[in-house]
Formats: sequence, structure tokens, C-alpha cells
Amino acid sequence: QAAGDPAITTLPPWTQTLGPGVDAAPYGVPSPYEASVRRRNVDWLTADPVSSVNFTPLHALDGIITPNGLCFERHHSGVAEVDPAQHRLMIHGMTDNELVFTMEDLLRFPRENRVYFLECAANSGMEWRGAQLNGCQYTHGMIHNVMYTGVPLRLLLERAGVKPGGKWLLAEGADAAAMTRSIPMEKALDDCLVAFKMNGEALRPEQGYPLRLVVPGWEGNMWVKWLRRLEVGDQPWHHREETSKYTDLLGDGRARRFTWEMDAKSVITSPSPQAPITHGPGPTVLTGVAWSGRGTIPRVDVTLDGGITWVEARMSGPSWDKSMHRFYHEFEWDGRPLLLQSRAHDSTGYVQPTKDALRQIRGENSIYHNNGIQTWAVDAEGEAENVEIS
Ligand code: MTE
Ligand code: CO
Repeated sequence: QAAGDPAITTLPPWTQTLGPGVDAAPYGVPSPYEASVRRRNVDWLTADPVSSVNFTPLHALDGIITPNGLCFERHHSGVAEVDPAQHRLMIHGMTDNELVFTMEDLLRFPRENRVYFLECAANSGMEWRGAQLNGCQYTHGMIHNVMYTGVPLRLLLERAGVKPGGKWLLAEGADAAAMTRSIPMEKALDDCLVAFKMNGEALRPEQGYPLRLVVPGWEGNMWVKWLRRLEVGDQPWHHREETSKYTDLLGDGRARRFTWEMDAKSVITSPSPQAPITHGPGPTVLTGVAWSGRGTIPRVDVTLDGGITWVEARMSGPSWDKSMHRFYHEFEWDGRPLLLQSRAHDSTGYVQPTKDALRQIRGENSIYHNNGIQTWAVDAEGEAENVEIS
């Protein structure tokens, strides 16, 4: 240090010329130094990037809101590029009135703003049989958490007038997959939204522009994007996404069906394989996220020694129903290897299980609804790896 810190003693280029003006980026983009923070695909997971998934870079984010450009994408026929002027939402079936709404019509209904997480039921699905993917982006990144602006679905259904016996709703997307899901009327009338904004701006095309269904706390597959049709019926439709997919095969060969609610879950985002400890021993910040489809997360426990001793983490940020929560644990790292885990408690009293406990009930055939406790092994260099301990 005798020669002085060049970051202080030399003039960097940005102090010697004028920077770009206010017209240079009319729709802003992140600093080029953040270029590594992006959604990423896992090539071998799916046959083709069109019917595929990419993952939210959870390891690089903080707070609870996912920036729109980093929200993971899952679509079965690529992104539909829908012209909002040509888009219609139809409600029909067991209703007094069959209705068709334009986007302009929908903007004349009272709207609400609510923050919710959306988690694909297949999140962590690769991890059922043991540690697989090295990084929370890949093990837990099929989730995002944004503020939606939309019309309560209840208001549209009231306008249509649901006939007695109308107990189910089929939601259909306008993409080439015309993806459909059956939703019980009780949920539709409770807290679902027909949303057109996320984090204040229009939905991104990959998130269903111009219109998507928001089904708070329930598996992401039901949040139909490019929403074009709602049919009221007296029973579920048993379509592809609720039979061959999004059904959990148990150990004895029977299957769980209609497993809509997302169980409480958490993950440490740093330190983690993509966010190693680079500063050596000393004060260290551990952080992560937790969520539950049944309410809020009043408490998260963390362990540094693979579950021998647990401490309560510090929650920071808003605690909203069915929204992501942020936790921290500041500790003095002595430079020894660590086994990091987090365990979420939700407002119903449910506690996130170990992966072993989950497998005892669900067997090893499952893909969906893996909310087991994640372990990161940190070595003396601060590098972290996805492991499983029992
Ligand atoms: N809606 C339509 N129309 N088509 C789709 O392929 N994919 C579903 C759901 N809605 C899908 C869809 C699945 S499986 C998930 S997990 C979520 O959208 C993903 O939402 P996202 O792309 O905003 O992350
Ligand atoms: Co999904």
C-alpha cells in the first residue's frame, strides 16, 4: 500500500470525459459490470429452448422484489407476441351472461396492487434423488416475486353471473400451447387477479403480456399467461397439465393430484455456489429468501454446522401474505468449513421439512413440490457446493 491505492491515486476514464446524455437509454438497462446477472437456461434439461425454462439469478439479488428482466420464464410454446388491440378475454360456460372483454374494458374495472411469489411446482424437482445442480439459481430459481396490478377475478365472474353448480373454472392461454388449467371456483372468487402490470410496468411478453392470471400461493402452472378464455363448469377438465403433468407419483405407484398450494420453503442465496465467500475469515453476511403459499414467514432458522445448532435469522423487509421474505444472519467466520441450511416456519405453524423427511412420505418418484431443506457445503477457501447430508 506504500505506493497508494491506484483506485484513489489515478484518474479513471469516467472522470475525464462527459458521460452519455439523458437520451442515451430511454428505457434503462443495468450497468455493463452487472452483465453476469442474468436468467440462465440449463441446456440438458429440455430438448429445445422454445419449450423450456430459464432461472432467476437468486444468488445475485437482494430484498424481495424480482426485477422484471430477471423473472424466470417457463413456457410450453415459446413467448406469444400478442397485440393488445387484438386481445380478448372471454367468459362463458355456466354463466348468466357470456362476456368478451377488450383490454380497454378491463381497465374500467376497479383494480388492486398485490405482491406475490410465483413458484413453478417443478422448482427443485431435479434434486429429488440427491444434490444435482450447483447454484441456487438452478436449484431454486423457478420463482419470482413482483407487484401485480390487476382486476379481482371475482368482479369479472360477478359480472358474468356464475350459475349455481358452476364450481370450476377453466383458464386458457392464447399461446400456441393454448395451455389450460382447472381452478376451483372458491379460489377464483377468493384472491385471484387478472393482471396486466408487474412492478408498475406492463407485463413483459414472457410473463404473459398483455394479460395473465394470478393465483396467489398456488403452483405456477395455474397462472395462465396470455389469458384469453375462462369457462365455468361443474367439474374439473382433467387436461394434460393436471394429469400427465403436475401430478405427484408416490412410492407405492399411486399419484397425488390437484396439489395446488406451495408449501413453505427457503434457501440461502449467499454464500452459495454462485456466491462464494471471497473475503476470507471475519465478519460475514449470510442471506436468503423464504416463502409460503399459505401465508407469511414469521421465522427462519439457519445453521452453519449442518443442523447441530440452529439460530433464528433476522427478517428484513415487508412480510406480506404469499410473498417472498428476506432473511439475514451476520456471523464471524473462523475460516473453517461450513454446512449451511435454512428452515422456514410459516404463519400456519408449518415447518419446512428435511429432504429425507419429504422422501419418507412422498417416495423418490416425485418431481414437483420439493420444498426440502437445502444444504451448501462451504470449504476453507469459501467455495460453496450443493450437497446432501442426513
Ligand atoms: N401459461 C401459458 N399460456 N403457457 C405456458 O406455457 N407456463 C406455466 C404458467 N403459465 C405457461 C403458462 C408454467 S409451468 C409456469 S411455472 C408459469 O406460467 C411461469 O410463469 P413465468 O414465465 O412468468 O415465470
Ligand atoms: Co411451471
